[in-house]
Amino acid sequence: MRWMRLVPMMLCAMCFVASAVLWSCTPAAKQEAPSAAAMTPDQKVARGRYLVTVLGCGDCHTPGSMYGAPDTTRLLSGSELGWKGPWGISFPHNLTPDSTGIGSWTEEQIVVAIREGRRPDGSPLMPPMPWTDFAHLTDDDVHAVVAYLKSVPPVKHVNVKLVPPGQKYKGAYLQFPPPPAWDVQPHAAAAGAAPAAGAAPTKEGSPTTGK
Ligand code: HEC
Repeated sequence: MRWMRLVPMMLCAMCFVASAVLWSCTPAAKQEAPSAAAMTPDQKVARGRYLVTVLGCGDCHTPGSMYGAPDTTRLLSGSELGWKGPWGISFPHNLTPDSTGIGSWTEEQIVVAIREGRRPDGSPLMPPMPWTDFAHLTDDDVHAVVAYLKSVPPVKHVNVKLVPPGQKYKGAYLQFPPPPAWDVQPHAAAAGAAPAAGAAPTKEGSPTTGK
């Protein structure tokens, strides 16, 4: 009979509706990462390791990364490859919990550095530290990042101090060539707006250090 053929089809449709209802009733929290408060310390460190990896902190802060050979035995212990710009020459600092790193910083001080680009003494973090990106980290995520940083093996490595603009430096550093026309167009479009720190090209194309 005709209606007999309809039965399996109706059953299928009912199953589909039922599973859709069940799925939509699943509490949202179950589909997302648990909140920091609900995480065990180990889960928090694991979440932090994941974030530090995908946010690329090690690209700058782990020695060898910029040469395609990150030294995982000295993870996040800072690099001596400098970055030259109008701010002088900056060096990615030691983020391990050693006294030469950020071992003596409180959790809140590290959070402020990552999200607001300020050290405990109030000094600003220079480019290329991309803290303006990290300013968007949620409380849970930034605290997970800190939990992970506090868990990595401490490495003794004294940071290379920021070389002020105009001062000579004999060590290794990166310096960018004059920007191609395409790359400076946004500045022209935003005429009158202050260029981002370190982004302003000079006449010679080299950073404003003039050296
Ligand atoms: C593109 C390179 C780059 C990346 C990526 C980067 N940093 Fe940095 N970071 C720097 C540099 C350079 C400094 C030093 C700036 C200065 O001298 O003022 C710094 C400084 C810091 C400091 C201050 C340390 C101190 O002793 O003053 C903290 C904390 C920090 N970074 C955390 C992070 C974390 C966490 C991440 C990833 C979420 C990250 N950084 C990603 C380049 C980078």
